[in-house]
Amino acid sequence: MLTILIINSKGGAGKTTLCTNLASYYASKKFRTTIMDYDPQGSCLQWLRTRPDHMKNIHGANAAPPKGASTLHNLQKWVPVGTEVLIIDAPSGVKGLLLQEMVRRSNFIVVPVVPSPIDIHATDEFIKELFTIGGASSTRVKVAVVANRVRRSSPVRESLERFFSTLKLPFLTSISDSDNYLRAVEKGLGVFEMEEADSEREELLPILKWLDGNAYNRRAADREGNVVNMDDSRRAAANQVMGKLRHTPMRRKMDRA
Ligand SMILES: Nc1ncnc2c1ncn2[C@@H]1O[C@H](COP(=O)(O)OP(=O)(O)O)[C@@H](O)[C@H]1O
Ligand SMILES: [Mg+2]
Repeated sequence: MLTILIINSKGGAGKTTLCTNLASYYASKKFRTTIMDYDPQGSCLQWLRTRPDHMKNIHGANAAPPKGASTLHNLQKWVPVGTEVLIIDAPSGVKGLLLQEMVRRSNFIVVPVVPSPIDIHATDEFIKELFTIGGASSTRVKVAVVANRVRRSSPVRESLERFFSTLKLPFLTSISDSDNYLRAVEKGLGVFEMEEADSEREELLPILKWLDGNAYNRRAADREGNVVNMDDSRRAAANQVMGKLRHTPMRRKMDRA
């Protein structure tokens, strides 16, 4: 199983937006896809409820900390056997043991950041925490950052670029501030399922390419036994996912790019 964590302790960074769009991409490519929503606000689960019946199914797992009895919580957190891609939506303000749990589950981590001084500062702190307390430095998990809600005229563009250049992490793409993301949420869709969202699809492609391109590194890490939480059957499933991805039209399109 390919497990992708979308995380930033800062609220409004675009975690849920990225989760729903990546999930809809993998589902539309016929991968058995599950979203695990750790956020008590349950925005991803709400999005799934508005998803039209005829669209490719995405399973929703509720991993929000239980308010009362934990039995129901555990049942809802269940990830169906055969899930090929698991996308985890982290809550804002996440830290400590919960942060560690999510990092341990993941093969890839994507951190969205909005170009604003407050968000840049908060993200800087969060990334340090991710690698120290979160444990991202002691597993083979791959971490990358993306800019979200970027406007052409943003006065903070330069500070954002400076911030990215100080990080020793791949910067994947700039996601525009676009109404198509709002239209997609409203309809229970992702931009990969909307005819009119060409440029939004293009700007998300580098993330998918990064996830795909790192498959080889991840396999090597698997062989060394350094990827936490992956038993043999899950490793085989992850390899299958990567093999399948390599033969999708999207992959061919990306290769040409
Ligand atoms: N690229 C974008 N363009 C337009 N609106 C966006 C974009 N990314 C996020 N939003 C909107 O900003 C708000 C916060 O985004 P969300 O994904 O919920 O952030 P988070 O999950 O990190 O708190 C939501 O209303 C969402 O629809
Ligand atoms: Mg959210």
